[in-house]
Amino acid sequence: MSPMILDGNAAASQLRDELRQKITALATQGKQPGLAVVLVGENPASKVYVANKAKQTKEIGMLSVEHRLPAETSEADLLAIVEKLNHDPAIHGILVQLPLPEHINAEKVLESINPDKDVDGFHAVNAGKLAIGMNALVPCTPLGSVYLAKMYKKDLSGLHAVVIGRSNIVGKPVAQLLLQENCTVTIVHSRTKNIADICRQADLLVAAIGKPLFVGADMVKDGAIVIDVGINRVPKPDGGSKIVGDVDFDAVKDKTAAITPVPGGVGPMTIAFLLANTLRAFELSEARNH
Ligand code: GUN
Repeated sequence: MSPMILDGNAAASQLRDELRQKITALATQGKQPGLAVVLVGENPASKVYVANKAKQTKEIGMLSVEHRLPAETSEADLLAIVEKLNHDPAIHGILVQLPLPEHINAEKVLESINPDKDVDGFHAVNAGKLAIGMNALVPCTPLGSVYLAKMYKKDLSGLHAVVIGRSNIVGKPVAQLLLQENCTVTIVHSRTKNIADICRQADLLVAAIGKPLFVGADMVKDGAIVIDVGINRVPKPDGGSKIVGDVDFDAVKDKTAAITPVPGGVGPMTIAFLLANTLRAFELSEARNH
């Protein structure tokens, strides 16, 4: 049987429609959620992400504030901007785009964001809350990954989920979310022995290692759900470059029950959940103030 292709563009577009309706309703009460994005330097991929974020934020009717700062911005100046945003009542979500220039301590900056406005879900308070099952702002890419898996199978309970990669941004939080979904979760990483053997046991395989085409057919069980978080730019044989995932889609897809393409899978879901997290942060702030 051919697999279900989990279409992130379609799912993200539907999510944005739902958010737009809620934001239109808030506007009738004179209320508007606001997202601030801070970009330091000239990383070309970051510039594209930030432009997309701003465009989509405005499209659904949220306030979008952008701070584009030169690469030589000092850590102190960046911390001062975050502090100002922390206290700005029009701003409900703050995102500092990563990577930051080397002279800036990224951890220090992320920890300076008010956890209630931390729409990336990267702050230690939110990571800790997620780990113990408390209400938290949860990282966007993991939310998008689990959402796509659930489009194929609503109840993931009891599945063996294998997560490839242990980053704070994707691997660890996606593992926490899958635990909350009652999966049996294994995380494999660069020091794991027999990665292929373990991956072959997965009912749900999440690839988040940033290695192009790492997951081949020998690593996938028949009928597995495969979620590819990778976004890797690779040269094309005839010149130029293209984007591929961590999964060799063409080699793997016919073994799977459902699989995300790259591009057009998890990628579009990340921004959709950033917007959803901003609305959530707004709602939490309303609840605190009333
Ligand atoms: N750089 C690439 N992806 C992300 C993301 O989701 N959040 C932030 N802050 N920076 C990123």
